[in-house]
Amino acid sequence: MTMQDTIYFDNNATTAVAPEVVDAMLPFLTTLYGNPSSIHHFGGQVMAYVDKAREQLASLLGAAPSEIIFTSCGTESDNAALRSAVFTQPKRTKIVISQIEHPAILNTAKDLERSGVTVAVIPVDEHGRLDMDFAKEEIDENTALVSVMWANNEIGNIFPVRELAEMAHAKGALFHTDAVQAVGKVPINLATDGIDFLSLSGHKLHAPKGVGALYVRRGIRFHPFVIGGHQENGRRAGTENVASLVGLGAAAELAKANMEKENTFVRSLRDTLEQGVVAAIKDVRVNGDVANRLPNTTNISFEYIEGESILMLLDQFGICASSGSACTTGSLEPSHVLRAMALPYTAAHGAIRFSFSRYNTMEEVQFTLEKLPPIIARLREISPYWK
Ligand SMILES: Cc1ncc(COP(=O)(O)O)c(C=O)c1O
Repeated sequence: MTMQDTIYFDNNATTAVAPEVVDAMLPFLTTLYGNPSSIHHFGGQVMAYVDKAREQLASLLGAAPSEIIFTSCGTESDNAALRSAVFTQPKRTKIVISQIEHPAILNTAKDLERSGVTVAVIPVDEHGRLDMDFAKEEIDENTALVSVMWANNEIGNIFPVRELAEMAHAKGALFHTDAVQAVGKVPINLATDGIDFLSLSGHKLHAPKGVGALYVRRGIRFHPFVIGGHQENGRRAGTENVASLVGLGAAAELAKANMEKENTFVRSLRDTLEQGVVAAIKDVRVNGDVANRLPNTTNISFEYIEGESILMLLDQFGICASSGSACTTGSLEPSHVLRAMALPYTAAHGAIRFSFSRYNTMEEVQFTLEKLPPIIARLREISPYWK
């Protein structure tokens, strides 16, 4: 391994586009550029590929193709689900979400709050686990929608979505899950999972950025978020992003074929790194619900130092990871997820997320395990918090 190689351990931020996906997309960026809605053969022939992509994605999810709406990203899918559920059920004025949702949900909920919707927010404990008693109490006859993510992007926690869907249905409410981080990593079968809406995003599963999908269970009323032409059966207007959605279909097929690998090979990369860090470095803690999380994600706090300094030193060796901080008003604050878990200050500031994919190697993990201990020792020497 040379220092010039990039070691990409930030797959929850985005993933490499799979070579097979690029190959599948290329004709639609070159020769097959017709509009699938055209009457002539040149455009019309493209619709068959849109249909195929819909089938490939539906097959990964255990859904019917007619239940899939292609969108521009996970964020759009989240917006569409929340807004449709509120719009189609005017007598129900409340939505229930969790404290550690992605901003696509949190800020859409905030926006809906400004138009009179009540938002109940399920808190989490120090491991990021939901307070299910709170959920049970808050989900009531006035609830239009419960929206809880399938898996969290920062700590990887997997949430009891089937149980939450049942709780929602018992009160006549709908259930949505932001499964952007779960699709392709954990088995999903929407034919039996009892979920009404599910959001996903192409760029988290080796398809390109700027394409996503929303699953809407058959029979659920849906009000479109993007309004205009008749595309997507009148449920999402705008000329289809054919190349990207063909890429998403190909990525879905690959994800289905590689699901086992996520839970064996990718999990072993994650576990080797995590166990190596815990064995070699003192004052570290693994954040999240360790027994119940995505196989590709670990979030580790290196206490008494700043995550950003670790990232910068790792970057010198080509190693890309991510910290749990967001730059708010010029200062580095721990993310809303770590704050919700009430991690001690010294742990929240030193949190690093490593997120793996099937394109990573054990050699990369070993290289990182060599480089990390001296980086941590060096930063602790100059840390005012280090005893
Ligand atoms: C859990 C979750 N939801 C939604 C999104 C947004 O997806 P997109 O980038 O496709 O808008 C992300 C992306 O980071 C995510 O991790």
